[in-house]
Amino acid sequence: MSTIIPAVKKRADYRQPDFLIDHVDLEFTLIETTTKVICISKVTRNGSHNKPLILDGEGIQLSSVCINGTEAADYQQTDTSLTIDIDTDTFELRIESIINPKDNSSLEGLYLQAGAYCTQCEAEGFRKITYFLDRPDVLATYDVKIIADKVNFPFLLSNGNKVDSGDLSDGKHWIKWSDPFKKPCYLFALVAGDFDLLEDKFVTQSGRTIALELFVDKGMLGRGQHALDSLKKAMKWDETEFGLEYDLDIYMIVAVDFFNMGAMENKGLNVFNSKFVLADAQTATDEDYFNIEAVIAHEYFHNWTGNRVTCRDWFQLSLKEGLTVFRDQQFSADMSSPIVNRIQNVKVIRERQFAEDASAMSHPIRPDEVIEMNNFYTVTVYDKGSEVIRMLFTLLSKTGFLAGIKLYFKRFDGQAVTCDDFVQAMEDANDKDLSQFRRWYSQSGTPQIVVTDTYDAISKIYRIAFEQKHIATFEQKEKQNLVIPIQFSLLNDKLESLNLGDTDQQQLTLELNETQQCLEFYNVESKPIPSLLHGFSAPVKVDYPYTQQQLGNVMLGSPDEFARWDAGQQLFSNCIHNLAGKTELQQTTSIAETIAMFEPIIESKDISLALKAEILTLPSFETLFQQLDTVNIDALNQSRKQLFKALAQTFQANWLSHYSAFEKQPYAYQSQQVEQRKMQNLALKYLTLSAQPDVEQLLTQQFNNADNMTDSLGVLGAAQLGDLDLFERLMLAFEQKWHADPLVLDKWFALHANTDRSDILARISILMGHSRFTINNPNRVRALIGTFCFFNVAGFHNIDGTGYKFVADYLIKLNEVNPQIAARIITPLIQWQKVDKTRQQLMQLQLMRIGDTKGLSKDLFEKISKSLP
Ligand code: ARG
Ligand code: ZN
Repeated sequence: MSTIIPAVKKRADYRQPDFLIDHVDLEFTLIETTTKVICISKVTRNGSHNKPLILDGEGIQLSSVCINGTEAADYQQTDTSLTIDIDTDTFELRIESIINPKDNSSLEGLYLQAGAYCTQCEAEGFRKITYFLDRPDVLATYDVKIIADKVNFPFLLSNGNKVDSGDLSDGKHWIKWSDPFKKPCYLFALVAGDFDLLEDKFVTQSGRTIALELFVDKGMLGRGQHALDSLKKAMKWDETEFGLEYDLDIYMIVAVDFFNMGAMENKGLNVFNSKFVLADAQTATDEDYFNIEAVIAHEYFHNWTGNRVTCRDWFQLSLKEGLTVFRDQQFSADMSSPIVNRIQNVKVIRERQFAEDASAMSHPIRPDEVIEMNNFYTVTVYDKGSEVIRMLFTLLSKTGFLAGIKLYFKRFDGQAVTCDDFVQAMEDANDKDLSQFRRWYSQSGTPQIVVTDTYDAISKIYRIAFEQKHIATFEQKEKQNLVIPIQFSLLNDKLESLNLGDTDQQQLTLELNETQQCLEFYNVESKPIPSLLHGFSAPVKVDYPYTQQQLGNVMLGSPDEFARWDAGQQLFSNCIHNLAGKTELQQTTSIAETIAMFEPIIESKDISLALKAEILTLPSFETLFQQLDTVNIDALNQSRKQLFKALAQTFQANWLSHYSAFEKQPYAYQSQQVEQRKMQNLALKYLTLSAQPDVEQLLTQQFNNADNMTDSLGVLGAAQLGDLDLFERLMLAFEQKWHADPLVLDKWFALHANTDRSDILARISILMGHSRFTINNPNRVRALIGTFCFFNVAGFHNIDGTGYKFVADYLIKLNEVNPQIAARIITPLIQWQKVDKTRQQLMQLQLMRIGDTKGLSKDLFEKISKSLP
């Protein structure tokens, strides 16, 4: 491993800042490699002490430091700081410096890409722009003046309201912005470039008119409407559901092609990855439409949960992210199918969050130790964080939860606070003791709920016991009992739900807070089947010794749609896990028995098409992987394919009728159509796998007639799955058609990266030389390299180790260009804990190679050093 060991920061070490800055005047003169930044801060000493002022800064060329108008000499610089000795308590600090946006390929701080200047400051990027107190508990108002060439950069944007502008003699112009709301510097943003502008308005519940402005690349105006519509829906929803209204008079969104994450909630000026803004029928799938609506809403909701009330320190990230993900999930559920939406959320937890908890990067939703903060924008902090909020919602009821939210804003508006402050507000508003519940914030790992039951036919008593079990995680050996809401019901053998308790209530919520709790039910006529964890009421694994028959009954009879889907998934999972090592005859029988249980589903009329499609979709490889303690990769992959194929063949006639059931309408992103396309494209996959005689014709026909991207990709996905020669021909046609469209081409790169062929590495190497591929663009890298690592099981985990080596070679290069993206993509390589010894060694070998890289980033260092044994 590299020799300089980066420092570990600890949550317990939090101290208030020694100085506060309550107003900032920034002036930017934008020049490619020598942008001038003048930062004038109003500084006050915080408390009585005589410590120096220590500012953060990275890669900045300092020109001058002035205090109260006089050039200062008493300062020291390191690679990451500027220390100023000063005994005044209140002063004006003027720092002038030069930065280089053009050569900033990290896409953090101020960068120039594709002809536009853009910033990304969260978490600690502001320190790459100027020396500053780069921490979220320093809140200031900002006035920002931007100076740039007028022809190339007609739009100069920053937070807040535009207050002044003017032309200069040398072809430059300037614009001045003022943001009246105090904010931490991570919410600062600047964008300069030439864009097409889509404008609209929103009238708030109190009657204020907000100007909405969406900036997209030239020529992309036609793809902006859905994002703008989504924004208006989100604004309305937050008013009706949470009573929260927008505060500034203008809300701007800019879509850029070079962006590390999904999007960023900078005050009044969101910056988005263009992937989460641009959509039209031809280029975007239904899933893209869905994601755009969700991400637009997410960033909008941050205006209250994140900006008005922000985080005291970065260990508290889930304060804003967990809560905002919960809010965007509730919004999405209201906009589309709640059940399908919930299933998607649960897949993220089971496929990725459980994997993180089982890896060397395990951490609680509020981490205790961090080397590189960017490594903690995780599915744990975000998605498990959201599940924790959801449990509060369940435990307190919607009314209680909203009362807590109201108190939270009343207490903390305009402040930087902690997760504990949030829970305290929930506790106080509801007069409920949440001390044990708080452990969800400090404890990592996936709890296991072991459920056992007995029935006594003579006394007619049914007893069901719930036990919580916690296993040690990598960073935390000691575990405590949590408060776990478990929603469940009981089914009799006629698949009717029993009344539980005095009323006609059929669902109970058990608050499991002890190691084991037992419930008794009287006058139960026959042994019931429990339907457990309705709606995925907690982020846990449930262990109950179901027979396949019982699971079939839950799938058909549970009053909870989530539980029905989940039972179906367990049926499939059990079948897959039990195939290995069986004789061919045993395999055939077990597969046939499992599939037969789905017969009542495939033509049933009591569930929506969308839910039906979900039930008939096999659990992903990643989900199956997380169900086991040790995984035989090849066997698991093989068994899953076997069941997939059998499902295709057994129901061939049904798939054909599902495929042909709907009349084609002109594309609209509208729920009935979305459901139909989902079912049709699923059916097409199965038809292809079943080797339906005329399937090539069906595929070609759909490909040629498609008026939308969902249907085009449906064909490519099916042809790929079926390993048809047609796949290559259609891919070629697709590339020719979409050659000039990088966002569409990403789908094509991803399909290539995911093909199950022995020449996969050669294929990817060729694509790395494609004229549209560049290591500098995170979307391209994620599509090609990321897809290979995360989803190409056979290629990545090839037992000859070539997949791992290929990824390691790439990460060594990417480390220099964009450490954040490199550290994301390394994830599958550090998750070696469950695979066989041979692969473990091969993976570790590559981790060591990357670890030996000269100039290894903190991002990769943290993940590699934690994951090497
Ligand atoms: N706050 C953003 C969001 O979730 C994410 C930005 C994270 N960026 C980063 N480089 N870590 O909406
Ligand atoms: Zn967020």
